[in-house]
Amino acid sequence: MLDVSEIQTIEHDVMVIGAGGAGLRAAIQCSALGLDTGVISKSLLGKAHTVMAEGGMAAAMGNVDKRDNWKVHFRDTMRGGKFLNVWRMAELHARQAPDRVRELEEWGAVFDRTKEGLISQRNFGGHRYPRLAHVGDRTGLELIRSLQDHGIHQGIKFHMECSGLELLKDGGRIAGVLAYWRETGRFVIYRCKAVILCTGGGGKAWPITSNSWEYTGDGIAMAYDAGAELMDLEFTQFHPTGMVWPLSVRGILVTEGVRGDGGILKNNKGERFMFNYISERFAPETADTVEEANRWLEGDKTARRPPELLTRDEVARAITAEVKAGRGSPHGGVFLDIASRRPADFIRRKLPSMYHQFKELAEVDITKEPMEVGPTLHYFMGGIRVDADSQETTVPGLFAAGECAAGLHGANRLGGTSLSDLIVFGKLAGDGAGTYVKGLSETPRASDEQITAAVRRATDILKREKGSNPYLLHEKLEGIMSARVGIVRNKDDLSAGVDELEALKAEAVDMKAPGASQYNPGWHEALSMRSLLITSEAVTRAALMREESRGAHTRTDFPGESPEWVKYNVIIKKGASGMEVEKRPKPEGPAHLVALANAKIEDLESGKVGGDLT
Ligand code: FUM
Repeated sequence: MLDVSEIQTIEHDVMVIGAGGAGLRAAIQCSALGLDTGVISKSLLGKAHTVMAEGGMAAAMGNVDKRDNWKVHFRDTMRGGKFLNVWRMAELHARQAPDRVRELEEWGAVFDRTKEGLISQRNFGGHRYPRLAHVGDRTGLELIRSLQDHGIHQGIKFHMECSGLELLKDGGRIAGVLAYWRETGRFVIYRCKAVILCTGGGGKAWPITSNSWEYTGDGIAMAYDAGAELMDLEFTQFHPTGMVWPLSVRGILVTEGVRGDGGILKNNKGERFMFNYISERFAPETADTVEEANRWLEGDKTARRPPELLTRDEVARAITAEVKAGRGSPHGGVFLDIASRRPADFIRRKLPSMYHQFKELAEVDITKEPMEVGPTLHYFMGGIRVDADSQETTVPGLFAAGECAAGLHGANRLGGTSLSDLIVFGKLAGDGAGTYVKGLSETPRASDEQITAAVRRATDILKREKGSNPYLLHEKLEGIMSARVGIVRNKDDLSAGVDELEALKAEAVDMKAPGASQYNPGWHEALSMRSLLITSEAVTRAALMREESRGAHTRTDFPGESPEWVKYNVIIKKGASGMEVEKRPKPEGPAHLVALANAKIEDLESGKVGGDLT
């Protein structure tokens, strides 16, 4: 009989799960509110997908182009997200991002500067003006470094190399989390009053991804198991430019900053093909001749943006179409050329990581030669459903922020908005958890039975001599997700995907990793597979339900955006007999925000629309 009192137990007011940008910012806020705050990090502190947002963080500061402001940023976000974004989240984000960036600077972030000494801002896809505050092409790294430095002095307790397994509840409310130390395999119970999930996405379900080993959808799966609602998981972002060669590094990110700083895409015939893929929505704002695009590069503010800066969903689809039509590069991508556009010293200064990455990993000098690039699974737009202002989920005491939370990005995220998302909503989640904890009249407590059952679910894997191999299951999962739930989807594939995932789930019931819990990588893999399977099933079922093409979700059997489907979110929750999928009406936006999102840009700039909003 398991004696729960013998399991290590740690108490905090709030537990933050995940130590990327959102987790750190949320923890800093909780701590500033006087709460005893703990952070669990699956990996070592500082190793987070946040660093894969290289090119910058979006904030309408107007440092490089004074015409920029929160209203234009809000409009860009809604249009980029194909109007499926949660209105209030897009508003909060656009309004608050500049303050959060300035705060980071106060905490020590060293941004690139303009000639006038202001924080420099660069162009990125879908952003009308240069808007990305950046540190070369290492912005995410600098964000993490600054938050860590600041957080460490706030008295936050960091628990590194510790994985969350299951959320603990007292009745309907959150009461803690059962976790385990990755080094020793020992369990630890964190008893707390609120949990903030900041665990990122689940890119490791696909074989080609910019995500590293930690990104197995743990927070999404834990929230689902605890009864929280998930939303719009069909929208998985394929970043248009990942490395395609050598195979050992396939999927590693090539920052959008390359295109933002002037890089162009070409096929194997040397054609600048993006001119052939300008969508109706963005046509009025996109250059349709090489001459105009070149004038933009030279700084002509009357010229429209080049088509390489269309939104990520559009560029990823265009690259896929070129490769499919036989116009791809030797290793199945296309060519990204900055060498012919910018001098070598500019490239080395603005894109130092890209320069070294290609030099060291592919023996390509990007100041002289083009890069070979192709789409890579990068980001989940969907995730856990949260309240916009507090980030609370549908489970009392459970909050979520960053990539694992849904809503801000709608059907497609604009580049550079992951970092601004983290700092805006990380802070709001901290505020939300603070208010919740201070309002509790008693401390919730999880029962021993609940903890025992959760421990048993994890240790059963160690006790099995016979059963399925988690590594082989992971390989099968990647095969299913890339074949059935890729950039371009259809009913037959998605239905087959659901069936194949059901079969995989059945195989996974008796996963085995016999032996001790210490030094047993198979056990870690098996535990991650539990999360990956839930997350993958949710993505696939949601993709099957949404019968239209919108943003990052492209259905060949339902081409084009449907005026009907824009009115719905796809909601997933755990039912008595499995995953329940619902087409739920999306709340309408307030009139002033709807007017901003639909405004002609000239009306917004002249103040004809939104002029009364500060
Ligand atoms: O391309 C990039 O630098 C990635 C940025 C992002 O995903 O926000």
